[in-house]
Amino acid sequence: MLRGKHILVGVTGGIAAYKVCYLVRELRKAGADVKVVMTEAATRFVSPLTFSALSGHDVASDLWTHQQSTSSDIGTQHIDLAYWADLFVIAPASANTIAKLTYGLSDNLLTIVALASRCPLVLAPTMDADMYINPVTQANVAKLRERGCFIVPAEEGEHASGLRGPGRLPETEAIIRFIVGVLDKSTQDLRGKKLLITAGPTYERIDPVRFVGNRSSGKMGFALATAAALRGAAVTLITGPAHLETPRNVTRVDVESAAQMHKAVGIHAKEADAIIMAAAVADYRPRAPARSKIKKGRDTESLMLALQKTPDILQSLGQKKARGQILVGFALETEHALRNAREKLRRKNLDLIVLNSLADKGAGFAADTNLVTIIDRKGNAEKLPLMSKFDVANEVLNRLGKLL
Ligand SMILES: Cc1cc2nc3c(=O)[nH]c(=O)nc-3n(C[C@H](O)[C@H](O)[C@H](O)COP(=O)(O)O)c2cc1C
Repeated sequence: MLRGKHILVGVTGGIAAYKVCYLVRELRKAGADVKVVMTEAATRFVSPLTFSALSGHDVASDLWTHQQSTSSDIGTQHIDLAYWADLFVIAPASANTIAKLTYGLSDNLLTIVALASRCPLVLAPTMDADMYINPVTQANVAKLRERGCFIVPAEEGEHASGLRGPGRLPETEAIIRFIVGVLDKSTQDLRGKKLLITAGPTYERIDPVRFVGNRSSGKMGFALATAAALRGAAVTLITGPAHLETPRNVTRVDVESAAQMHKAVGIHAKEADAIIMAAAVADYRPRAPARSKIKKGRDTESLMLALQKTPDILQSLGQKKARGQILVGFALETEHALRNAREKLRRKNLDLIVLNSLADKGAGFAADTNLVTIIDRKGNAEKLPLMSKFDVANEVLNRLGKLL
């Protein structure tokens, strides 16, 4: 898996920087071509000369001298490394650099390359336990994870300060295993394919301040977008109101209502090689949304809300499906699940349908895991074990890839 791969190692300023010397050595032993970029703070812990000798390449650290020392076209030297890398691993990743990455700061070579890179980005947050558990750090790490960065789980144990707790850099073997796992999930098997993915709920206006919605978080659709982009697809993600970060390398289109989603899907569907409808689109919307806020009537004990059907986006996509276009739907059924899902696949002219479970623990809305059954056109149903939504996404993409 590592042989011939271009692995860029980013080193930031922390005691654990010395451990990354072993990481560079082992990556090279495994056949990878390794280059190292360091922050100025990192050079205070380990000399660039050490990494240069271990990697067999000059080490980049200072933005300005790097500009002069490389031989590529003038003006692009600072981002060349981003294009060179098949994977960028930042270890140790300091709290400072994590914060910069979260907000897109790019005041040194390492953060510039991270911002410009499209390859998988692996971070190993490493710091004293109190810095690690600080809600600011945790929130930053969560944001980066949501965007599709891979976070190496920190180890617990004793720190140089004497504190015990999480935040230690894992052993070299564990980081390498993690990197191999990420490379395995970013095979470029969908390169050149255009995927349209929908996610999230829709909000249907009752009046200017109220809506009819549902509890979809958007996590499944966002996981699909993240996974497909990592596999090289050009991904457009049309999402209803979802409080999630946009995955790296994904084009996001925000909509609110079923009607808006219908319109946006109509614009992007024609050119898509595959469409995955993971959004929980409202089936009904208020027939006559009020122009101003509906007041609580003094004598009105109950209020009737007349609903009317929304456009069936999946059905219309199934009817207009272009030759060779693959259409994947999701179903959430509470009774006769398999029978209803097979019937939906047939009726809507789908190629695959993913049956979600609401009854099982760890599955359904807002959870990070899902329990699904994938059904194909022949009616074959494959029940998958409980797994992360990202892994479910890859299972769906594996089957979709075979159909494309
Ligand atoms: C002895 C020492 C050890 C440090 N260890 C860490 C560490 O493990 N993790 C961390 O986030 N910061 C650590 N710091 C603080 C960072 O070096 C400091 O925040 C620096 O600005 C990071 O810059 P960088 O992100 O550009 O590398 C340490 C500082 C010192 C002086």
